Amino acid sequence: MIELSYLDSIIQKVKQVVENSKEEIYNLSENARQEYERAKKELEQVKEEIKITIEEVDKLEREYIKARMKLMEVSRNFKFFKEEDIKNAYEVAHSKQIELINRREKEKLLRNTRDHLERYIKNVERTIKRSEELMININMVMKILNNELSALSDKIGELQQFQALGLSVISAQEEERRRIARDIHDGPAQSLANIVMRSEYILKLMEVNPSMVKEELFALIELVRKSLADVRKIIFDLRPMSLDDLGLLPALKRYIEQYQKEYGIFVEMIVMGREYDLDSSISIAVFRIIQESLNNVRKYAKATQVIIKLEYLSEKINGSVRDNGCGFDVEKALAKKEGSAFGIMGMRERVQLLNGKFEIRSVIGKGTEVIFSIPVNKK
Ligand SMILES: Nc1ncnc2c1ncn2[C@@H]1O[C@H](COP(=O)(O)OP(=O)(O)OP(=O)(O)O)[C@@H](O)[C@H]1O
Ligand SMILES: [Mg+2]
Repeated sequence: MIELSYLDSIIQKVKQVVENSKEEIYNLSENARQEYERAKKELEQVKEEIKITIEEVDKLEREYIKARMKLMEVSRNFKFFKEEDIKNAYEVAHSKQIELINRREKEKLLRNTRDHLERYIKNVERTIKRSEELMININMVMKILNNELSALSDKIGELQQFQALGLSVISAQEEERRRIARDIHDGPAQSLANIVMRSEYILKLMEVNPSMVKEELFALIELVRKSLADVRKIIFDLRPMSLDDLGLLPALKRYIEQYQKEYGIFVEMIVMGREYDLDSSISIAVFRIIQESLNNVRKYAKATQVIIKLEYLSEKINGSVRDNGCGFDVEKALAKKEGSAFGIMGMRERVQLLNGKFEIRSVIGKGTEVIFSIPVNKK
């Protein structure tokens, strides 16, 4: 089973990591945005420079052509020109050529820079888009962590409680079955074996000593009657049929009457508030708790008197079973190793399954009180 506090601490850690990542991604995307702006500006500048350079190159090309023509004219008709003019024309043409080469080189470089910048900007754009998507994802993760996970951890808590409860209910059921099997084995099964033996004996008597048969048959009938009572008792313990037919209070009264008669313990039942119909799960629980409490009283308390109280309130039913017996150390009894205290555990589980409260107060030498309170939905 997962420890809930452990789960919580994991969730907190994950939240911290996600929160940090969120900040990091935010910083990255801010940087990318600034970088984008800067690169855009640079690109504009470069484009502007390219335009200027192209114009310059055009102009220089025209000038260079002009200078070359001049040089050709001068060199063709060198007789009409002074040496200085020729030299001049040559120098002009030459310098225009150099200048043109430089400018073309510059244009080429600028175009390279532009292409490079354009590619770079595309990349940055991609980064920005990606980081925006990541931010959306991260926000979603945070939302889940904040709301839905805490709901989840509540759910897990509930589930685990139910699971734990379910498991012990199952083991309590197993224990109950074991007890029933033992009851049948010790009671009716043994009686039936006895009945078979006696019947065989009576068959023999009929031949040997018929006068004794009548007496033996009476004893046999008594035995059969007792077995029948045992079987009825087991059936009643399994499911008090009167509870369905009569309702809680009459079923309890009948059970108490029988109990007093059988064990000689005085039982008084006090009902407060106005009786109303209960869900069958609740009336079974109340009946079983009182039944088990009375069983424990007769088995361990050495009590002479029991007081049962039931209080019908508008939102819950309260109950208690108090005896004037020897009392016991509740914590010690519950701390005993597995396989014991199924009675008390079962009572507590029934109440917990119905969202109620259960408690046992016991004072050594004074007596024991079993107290419960179960919420009801009045129809
Ligand atoms: N009214 C009581 N007076 C004195 N001791 C009690 C009383 N109720 C319970 N106990 C003590 O608490 C122990 C646990 O009771 P619990 O009903 O859980 O188990 P159990 O009766 O021993 O077994 P099971 O009910 O499964 O047959 C008992 O063994 C007994 O020692
Ligand atoms: Mg018991």
